[in-house]
Amino acid sequence: MANGLDDVVAAETVLSDVDGLGGRLTIRGHALSELAGRWTFARVVRLLLDGFFDDLPGEAELKQALGAAREEVFERLLPSLPLLAPLDIYSAMRAGMAMLPDGDTLTDGLRLIAAPAVLTPALLRQRRDERPLAPEGRADHAADMLRMLEGAVASPALARALDTYLVTVADHGLNASTFATRVVASTQAGLASCVLAGLGALKGPLHGGAPGPVIEMLDAIEAHGDAAGWLRAELARGERIMGFGHRIYRVRDPRADVLKAVVRQIGAEGPAGRRLAFAETVEQTALEVLRIAKPSRSLQTNVEFYTALVLEAAGFPSQAFSNVFAAGRVAGWIAHAREQQATGRLIRPQSRYIGPMPDLAA
Ligand code: COA
Repeated sequence: MANGLDDVVAAETVLSDVDGLGGRLTIRGHALSELAGRWTFARVVRLLLDGFFDDLPGEAELKQALGAAREEVFERLLPSLPLLAPLDIYSAMRAGMAMLPDGDTLTDGLRLIAAPAVLTPALLRQRRDERPLAPEGRADHAADMLRMLEGAVASPALARALDTYLVTVADHGLNASTFATRVVASTQAGLASCVLAGLGALKGPLHGGAPGPVIEMLDAIEAHGDAAGWLRAELARGERIMGFGHRIYRVRDPRADVLKAVVRQIGAEGPAGRRLAFAETVEQTALEVLRIAKPSRSLQTNVEFYTALVLEAAGFPSQAFSNVFAAGRVAGWIAHAREQQATGRLIRPQSRYIGPMPDLAA
């Protein structure tokens, strides 16, 4: 039995398809390359939610409703921010989201989609002893998130970079957090309960917690000076190289190239460009080291490697990278939760007991 449910099909979905051999991600009939950098996040939210809420409005109205949801989340949760101060930035966001209503309506869903984009900048500012800034409902989602973080309107290039990132990670088949979300949805629990399950699963370093350690790795390799030596020593200690390998992809993760192009667009000349040039050499070295160390497994660059560079360039500290991942993936979670609820079927697999049996003769 595979402990990781490898190759088990546990849901039918119209939402997204991950082609691990072809290196393709399809979202509701669109190749990722058709959406990333071309569709706004709000438009992709609408694409994902289409068919799952009777009152889903058109694109312009949905953008407005998402903006209104950001404003409402801020009003509701601002008084609780001091309570969240002792927690790490991800747990603080999760605890804030746990205070949202646990219903099944479109308003409930949009509030949850809005929440990471509102809470992450507010919590980061709180930690810098700066006043959290209220959202501007009419702004684009990603641009508003950056303005709430920095207090000034972000450059169009940066806003577009973050928007592209959110679209790129919005949905990705039955990944661990989406599966966790669907398991909870199958009990007919509310959308906040479903999303909290997704948030729990996303936190781990094998899933959404990887990009923070990618930055630590790049810094450590830069300080060490010998990328191959550093990487080999990590492997010898039994460590995994963050940003490489994937359960489904046996070729390069298509999201890695989308995000690499985004970093290039942000500014080839500035710090992001220098970081990119260094990261590219580390990537090539890591692929070579992994090819030799693990010849039986095709270990390729995954989405998290270039996620780290995009989010660093956008001004997020590495402790908040998983929050920003959640800000994108929450759209997929809501759609999957609704799709699972509609099946009416409880997800309830079995385990094989391998412990001792009672001694009936005693
Ligand atoms: N670095 C070093 N070795 C790795 C590796 C990595 N990043 N990813 C997988 N491997 C190795 C495993 O150690 C194992 O080697 P072994 O057969 O000698 O024991 C082999 O490759 C197969 O690994 P397995 O654990 O079966 O793969 P998986 O399908 O569970 O892996 C990940 C998927 C993502 C959990 C794994 O690749 C990983 O831990 N990557 C690093 C974390 C990361 O970037 N996560 C973000 C994913 S988008």
